Amino acid sequence: MRVTVIGAGYVGLVTAACFAEVGNTVTCVERDAGRLQALDKAQVPFYEPGLSDLVARNIEVGRMHFVPSIAQGLGTAQVCFIAVGTPPLPSGQADMSQVRGAAAEIGQHVSGPLVVVQKSTAPVGTVEMVQGIIDAEMARRGVQHWVSVVSNPEFLKEGSAIEDFTRGDRIVLGSNDDKAIAVMRELYRPFNRNHEKIMVMKPASSELTKYAANTMLATRISFMNELARLAEAVGADIEQVRLGMGEDHRIGSHFLYAGAGYGGSCFPKDVKALAFMAREAGMHAELAEAVDAVNQRQKQRLFEKIAAHFAAGDLKDRTFAVWGLAFKPNTDDMRDAPSIDLIEALLGAGARVQAFDPVAMDSARKLWGERPGLTLCKDAASALQGADALAVVTEWHTFRSPDFDQLAAQLKAKAVFDGRNLWDPQAVRSAGLAYYGIGRG
Ligand code: UDX
Repeated sequence: MRVTVIGAGYVGLVTAACFAEVGNTVTCVERDAGRLQALDKAQVPFYEPGLSDLVARNIEVGRMHFVPSIAQGLGTAQVCFIAVGTPPLPSGQADMSQVRGAAAEIGQHVSGPLVVVQKSTAPVGTVEMVQGIIDAEMARRGVQHWVSVVSNPEFLKEGSAIEDFTRGDRIVLGSNDDKAIAVMRELYRPFNRNHEKIMVMKPASSELTKYAANTMLATRISFMNELARLAEAVGADIEQVRLGMGEDHRIGSHFLYAGAGYGGSCFPKDVKALAFMAREAGMHAELAEAVDAVNQRQKQRLFEKIAAHFAAGDLKDRTFAVWGLAFKPNTDDMRDAPSIDLIEALLGAGARVQAFDPVAMDSARKLWGERPGLTLCKDAASALQGADALAVVTEWHTFRSPDFDQLAAQLKAKAVFDGRNLWDPQAVRSAGLAYYGIGRG
């Protein structure tokens, strides 16, 4: 099929590359000139395992190419994905200006039957709004084409996006139009093998499903983080509690990890957006708001532990090694990462920070530039040089088994703060280090 994808960001590029790989011809529309030039040379502007190879291979065989405008990109496409950004406004509401802009341009340039797929995470009612804009633009031009807008939320996780796209648990389609659903079924056929994964529902349900799924996962994490505080207060170990809970099949073991708080491009934004949507609908989403509040607080947790450990909380002129900056492993994404809260709090208290991440150093440089008190280090060992204590914030594999005797010899204040419960407290303590985890009695 001929597919156009508007927006070569994270979701757009993964969608485009995966559809190209199974034989479709995919045109990506990317407005940013720098990004467009890089993509033409198969340089993917963010870290996602396997994606560069996939893009390079499909450019080479001519199934994937990049253009700067919707006018040039729409051509005779049968399906057009809208995968532009919907960043949060200060109120928590999603900023829909890019989606509205894309819809208007589709209406101005469409020249035949087309299924428009709303892929960007956007509030309930967006399908209807996009359809309205396109219809109005066509009416203004005096043309009439069959254009049908379908909601198709993405459930990609950074770090395993290709696997999630090609072997996802489900493919949700929101539309009341059988003809559009038939086109979408055909497009997704290569990824809908072995058992039926396509779920058709009305647009509003599909749109809400995305927010509901992410808020549910975030709720589990915030609940575990709240329990971790309780575990500390009553002398329990959240890691044992997690195992005890997860074995119950009704609960399951995923997303039960207490830690330094959740971050990334989805959970923080989607939980807030759900709460905003509820307010707009005249109700108060108490649970979603609490999930967000617990998370904001949790992101301060490591700093509180550090401040409590040092006499009178005086962190002035102390040096802290921080391992892990990305919001989770296998990505260079630092959006809403708990490492930012920790480092800002330490710098704010007059401490020095020596930070290292296996892939997010460029993101960190972009975020902080030359920041007094902060050194971005070339490896994990350099971050430890002259440090009083170590905090680990992202559970990269390379941080899982450090030599604790060596750490004890190096760290002046002999203390480690484990924001992801990576280490066995006993093993750390027997090396002569003070150990602080999350919720560990
Ligand atoms: C998430 C959803 O999982 C995905 O379906 C959706 O499409 C986009 O948002 P992503 O943001 O890539 O994906 O990361 P995910 O692996 O879900 O982790 C989110 C955050 O929660 C991370 O900061 C992670 O460290 C944290 N987390 C996750 C926990 O603190 N505890 C857990 O048990 C699981």
